[in-house]
Amino acid sequence: MAQSENITWHDSEVKKTERQQRNNHKSAVIWFTGLSGSGKSTISVALEQALFNQGMQTYRLDGDNVRHGLNKNLGFSPEDRQENIRRIGEVSKLMVDAGMITVTAFISPYREDRDAVRALLDDQEFIEVYTQCSLETCEARDPKGLYKKARNGEISGFTGIDAPYEEPTQAEIVVDTEQLSVDEAVEQIIAYLKQHHYIDA
Ligand code: ADX
Repeated sequence: MAQSENITWHDSEVKKTERQQRNNHKSAVIWFTGLSGSGKSTISVALEQALFNQGMQTYRLDGDNVRHGLNKNLGFSPEDRQENIRRIGEVSKLMVDAGMITVTAFISPYREDRDAVRALLDDQEFIEVYTQCSLETCEARDPKGLYKKARNGEISGFTGIDAPYEEPTQAEIVVDTEQLSVDEAVEQIIAYLKQHHYIDA
């Protein structure tokens, strides 16, 4: 990767803590991870809406959307997925610095890549949310018809079929999307945010 030289970090006068004070809530990344079809996008959309309705500064980054723009030059090889997550991690860090409750929805199948984002952020700024759902159920839902294509051999390297998904071992929140409704999942996450003083109870 090309390295930039002769560059100097320039701090802002406006600090992250000042932004957080003005917003009346902390900033952090709510990092969804899970299989395709496990509910990441759906729950993250509902969560963003709920936080916004409660007056929070929030913004959502979604796998399919980001791959239309910022990451349109990346595919699904392990290296490209790693670069995808690295860039999203950096964007998330900027958003957290800007005071946002940032919600991300990427499969992010490799533990090492997720942990690298965790390490990039300050303590408590990375909230890993695992949308837990069996492959069988995700495949039955198949909202985009991609599992079918993967089974037919029209897509290769599809997560869960012929590419790995490494389950989180230290997720802050595990959402059982086979049991919970979207609203219940959002409630579970908001309860966590209140309990850990990210937002007012
Ligand atoms: S990640 O693995 O790099 O984190 P990301 O979340 O950005 O993936 O993109 C996943 C989305 O891309 C899926 O929801 C699906 O719509 C689409 N997709 C296309 N090809 C694949 C593939 N081979 N594996 C997984 N998802 C794929």
